[in-house]
Amino acid sequence: MTQFILSIDQGTTSSRAIVFDHSASIVASGQLEHRQHFPRAGWVEHDAIEIWDNVRQAVGLALTRANLTHTDIAAVGLTNQRETTVVWNRHTGIPVCRAIVWQDTRTQRIVAELAREHGVDRYKSAVGLPLATYFAGPKVRWILDNIPGARESADNGDLLFGTMDTWILWNLTGGVDGGIHVTDVTNASRTMLMGLESLAWDESIVADLGIPLSMLPEIRSSAEVYGFGREHGMLPGVPIAGVLGDQQAATFGQACFREGMAKNTYGTGNFLLLNTGETPVHSQNGLITTVCYQIGDAPAVYALEGSIAVTGSLVQWLRDNMGMFADAPDVETLAREVDDNGGAYFVPAFSGLFAPYWRPDARGALLGLTRFVTKQHVARAALEATAFQTREVVAAMNADSGIPLAELRVDGGMVANELLMQFQADQLGVDVLRPTVIETTALGAAYAAGIAVGFWDGQESVTENWSEAQRWTPSMPVAEREKLFRNWKKAVSRTFSWVD
Ligand code: G3P
Repeated sequence: MTQFILSIDQGTTSSRAIVFDHSASIVASGQLEHRQHFPRAGWVEHDAIEIWDNVRQAVGLALTRANLTHTDIAAVGLTNQRETTVVWNRHTGIPVCRAIVWQDTRTQRIVAELAREHGVDRYKSAVGLPLATYFAGPKVRWILDNIPGARESADNGDLLFGTMDTWILWNLTGGVDGGIHVTDVTNASRTMLMGLESLAWDESIVADLGIPLSMLPEIRSSAEVYGFGREHGMLPGVPIAGVLGDQQAATFGQACFREGMAKNTYGTGNFLLLNTGETPVHSQNGLITTVCYQIGDAPAVYALEGSIAVTGSLVQWLRDNMGMFADAPDVETLAREVDDNGGAYFVPAFSGLFAPYWRPDARGALLGLTRFVTKQHVARAALEATAFQTREVVAAMNADSGIPLAELRVDGGMVANELLMQFQADQLGVDVLRPTVIETTALGAAYAAGIAVGFWDGQESVTENWSEAQRWTPSMPVAEREKLFRNWKKAVSRTFSWVD
C-alpha cells in the first residue's frame, strides 16, 4: 500500500514540496525560492518557467530526503499563491511574458475604466469581489492589450490562461503533450470571472474584459482526480487529486469546517477566512466573498475573506531594501530591544490597501517620527502593523456576522514571532492559538487529495488530527490597546489619495 501524500505549495516567495504520512505528520520537504522582479514602481512579476523548474526540484528533494519514490505516493495535492496570472502558448508551453503577481498594481487604469459607470461594486453580487488590481481577470486583459501579438494569438485559440495551480497542473500532466487545462473553484473564485453560485465562468463579465473563452481552464472541484503525472516526469501515473488556493487550503488544514470558524495566515500578506457555510454571504464592511472549498460532488462551502496585501513582505522589505537586518526572524530580536513603538506607525500600503479599505490610491508611509525613533522602533512598528491590520479585518468580520470572533486560529511563517502573536492577542482582545502543524497550507491540499483517493476517510480525519500547540492570551490594559489602535487608524487615513 502506498503510504504517503505529496503536497506541492507554490507560494509568493518559494515553492515547496512536503511529504505527509497517514497521521498528517511531515516526513520530509524540499523548498526553493524564486526571484521577485520589480521592473517599475507598483509592478511585481515572477518567471513561470523558473517556478516550474523549482517545483520539480522541490519534489525531487522531498522524495529523496524521505527516501521514497513516486510509487510510495498515493496522491498529489496542489496549493498556490492565488490570482498570479500566467498566459502561455499551448503549442510551445512558453509564457508570453512574466507572470503578473497578485500584488502588482499595473491594472489600476483597467479597473478604473470598468468601474467608471457602475462603481467598484459592479460585479460584486455576481463574483463576490470589488473591482481591484488584486484579481486575475484584469491582469489577463492587460496582457492581451500590451504584449505584442498576444491578442491575435488568443483570438486564434493559441493561448491559455491559468493561475499557478493551472500552470503547474498542465505541466505536471503532460504540458504540450496533452497536459490538462483545469483549475479548481477556489482559484477560479479569485479571477473576478466566475459566478459564485453557478461555479461557472460568467460569460458576460468575460466578454466585458475582452477575454476569449477558449483561454480559460475548466473549473472543477477542490478534491477529485484531475489527471495523472506525465509518463516521463517525476511522478508518472500518480493521481493529482487536490487543488486549493493557498488560503483556502490553510482553512481546510485548520479544520475550519463549521460555520463561524476562522483562521488567519501570516505569510507575505495576511488572509483571514471565515467559513460561512453553503451560502455565499456578501459583506457590508469591505470583505470579499470567496469559495472556501468543494469536495467532489458535495455543495461548495463559502467564506468571507479579509485580504491584507503586505505583512510578512514588509519584514522582507526592511531586510532586502533597507538592509536593516540579515534574516527575517531578526526583526523580533530588534523589536524586543525597545518597550514600545516610540510613537512610530508604519502603514505598508505598498500595493495600495486591500481589505477593508480597497484603496488602490494609497501608498506606504512611516508616521509619527521624531529624533527619538530608532530602527528598533521601526522594527516594532512593522510588526505592529500586521496586528493592527488584522484587527481591522476582524472588526469587519464581527460587524458582518454579528457574532464576535471568540478566538483566532493562526498559521504561517510569522506565527513563530512571539512578540507579534502576543501583540495580536492584545489588540484583538481574544485568544490566539496555533496548531501543532503550522504548515497548514500544504497540509490542507494534502488532505483534499488524500480524501479524494480514499487515503483519509473524510473531513473527520482532519478534525481528529488537529491539535493545539500554543495559545496567547490578551494581557494589555484596554486603554493602552485602544490608544494604539486610534493612532493606527489616524496613520492609515494619511496614506490615501497618494496616487491619482
Ligand atoms: O492572494 C494571495 C495569496 O494567495 C498569497 O499567499 O502565502 O503566497 O503570500 P502567500
